[in-house]
Amino acid sequence: MVGKFIVFEGTDGSGKGTMLAKTAEWLFNSSIGHDKIVLTREPTFSGPGSQIRKALKSDKEPMTKAKQLLSLYFEDRKEHIDKLIKPALQLGSIVLCDRYKYSTICYQQAQGIPVESIVAMHKRLLVPDLVLVLDVDPKVAMKRIRASRSSIEKFEKDFFLGEIRQNYLNLKKALPDEPIKFIDANAEPDEVFLKVKKEIAKVLK
Ligand code: TMP
Repeated sequence: MVGKFIVFEGTDGSGKGTMLAKTAEWLFNSSIGHDKIVLTREPTFSGPGSQIRKALKSDKEPMTKAKQLLSLYFEDRKEHIDKLIKPALQLGSIVLCDRYKYSTICYQQAQGIPVESIVAMHKRLLVPDLVLVLDVDPKVAMKRIRASRSSIEKFEKDFFLGEIRQNYLNLKKALPDEPIKFIDANAEPDEVFLKVKKEIAKVLK
C-alpha cells in the first residue's frame, strides 16, 4: 500500500475532530506537497453505518443491543476499508480517519463485550500506520461537549467517559505491536496540535 493510514481516537470531547481538520489543512498546504488527503470517519453514513447512527440517536440506554451494535460496527468497518480506505491508499493518499477498531475495543468493552473477542474479530483487518489517542480528563471532555452541543449522546456522561478513557489507556496491553501513540489533549488546541504534528511528521518522512 503506497499511502498512509492515520487514525484519530479518543473519548467524546477529546477534540479529535478539531485535530483531524487542523491536520488536513496543514498537510494540504504544507511545502511537502501532499495532493491527496482523504478525510473520513466511523461509523460511516452509509449502509450499516447509517443504522448505527440512527440507533445512537434514539437509544438512551447504552447497555442494550451491545452485540447487535458490535456486528454493525464491524460490518461498517469492513465496507469502509474495501470501498474507501484501501482504494485511497493504493492511489497514494494520506487517509485521516476519525475512529477505527480502537473505538470498538474501548466502547463496546464498556458495553460488556470482552476485549479479547473484539481484538480477535479484528485480527485480519488493515492495521494503520499511526494511531493517535487524544487523552483527556473526563471533566475537560464534558465541558467541551456541553459547550458544543445542545443534546448529550449516550456515552457522553462523566461515568462512561472515565471508563472509556481507561480502556484507551489499556490499549497497548491488548495490541502491543500496533503503532499507538498517546497525546495529552487537555491543553488548548494549538498546543495539542504541535504534538500531533510531531507524531505525524515522523510517519510521513
Ligand atoms: P462520533 O461522535 O465520534 O462520530 O462517534 C459516534 C459514537 O459512536 C461515539 O459515542 C462512539 C461510538 N462508537 C462506538 O461505540 N464504537 C465504534 O466502533 C465507533 C466507531 C464509534
